[in-house]
Amino acid sequence: MSDIQSPVSAVPQDRKKISIPLIQAMKARHEPISMLTAYDYPTALIMDQTGIDIILVGDSLGMVVLGYDSTLPVTMDDMIHHCKAVARGAKYALLVGDMPFLSYQVSTSEAVRNAGRFLQEAGMNAVKLEGGRERAETIREIVHAGIPVMGHLGLTPQSVHKLGGFRPQGRNAETALELLEDALILQEAGCFSLVLESIPGRLARLVSESLDIPTLGIGAGVGCDGQVLVTHDLLGLFERFTPKFVKRYANLAAEMRQAFSQYKNEVKASAFPEAEHTIEMSDEEWHNLEQRLGKAKPSFIVHDEAIR
Ligand code: KIV
Repeated sequence: MSDIQSPVSAVPQDRKKISIPLIQAMKARHEPISMLTAYDYPTALIMDQTGIDIILVGDSLGMVVLGYDSTLPVTMDDMIHHCKAVARGAKYALLVGDMPFLSYQVSTSEAVRNAGRFLQEAGMNAVKLEGGRERAETIREIVHAGIPVMGHLGLTPQSVHKLGGFRPQGRNAETALELLEDALILQEAGCFSLVLESIPGRLARLVSESLDIPTLGIGAGVGCDGQVLVTHDLLGLFERFTPKFVKRYANLAAEMRQAFSQYKNEVKASAFPEAEHTIEMSDEEWHNLEQRLGKAKPSFIVHDEAIR
């Protein structure tokens, strides 16, 4: 029998809100960190019940919820709206809001102000932003403002056009070395953790072992300090494409199609609603109504009869 506990029973009764020091302590004691994305209240609520350590309101929102081809059209207002919904649902997980394209690249002061909105308006505990050494100064300033920052290296989707597509990174010695240097620079700039997306497993292990801060891998192998997936991929809810590194734990798209088409068929056949789904009034009140209608019919009924 597997020694992996069922999700809900694995959650301790005396749960504490997950903090950044707790996440860092997990790395120190080699406890893998679990992170998933969420974009709405019910998903955040259910996810939080299972004891997921970090919930990321990712700008993957743009692709898996809003239907764009990339994350580039996502705005600060989109992110704040969805972060607020997640914060209403999740009370225990560390909540990280993803800074969207152009919210931190234009100027450092704009980046600090936008990062602050995630904490002040949207109930997040930290922000995430993409990029390497070119972001070090911005990260330093955001962290100086008291806002924890998670970095993101490797396949950085906001640079999809520069990278020439959603493709793995760091596959030769030169780019691997550059990525390792970037990771060390981001740690020095004050990041409390790093996402490593779509890079070779042995490079991700090397980076993770070289850093004091935890790494969260997506398509980066088991050598990271934790793992993250896009929830719609894990649930089989986003069918347009599925990256090779995704493991599907459910097939919700098929279940939703089945439920919607059964509902449609039952409506068409007048098989729904049945008595148990219908609100009724007592016979006594119904007779009262009939009597009152007999004495003084509402004007629309009188009008109806006049037409006939
Ligand atoms: O936007 C997102 O969901 C992300 C994860 C893939 C880490 O950045």
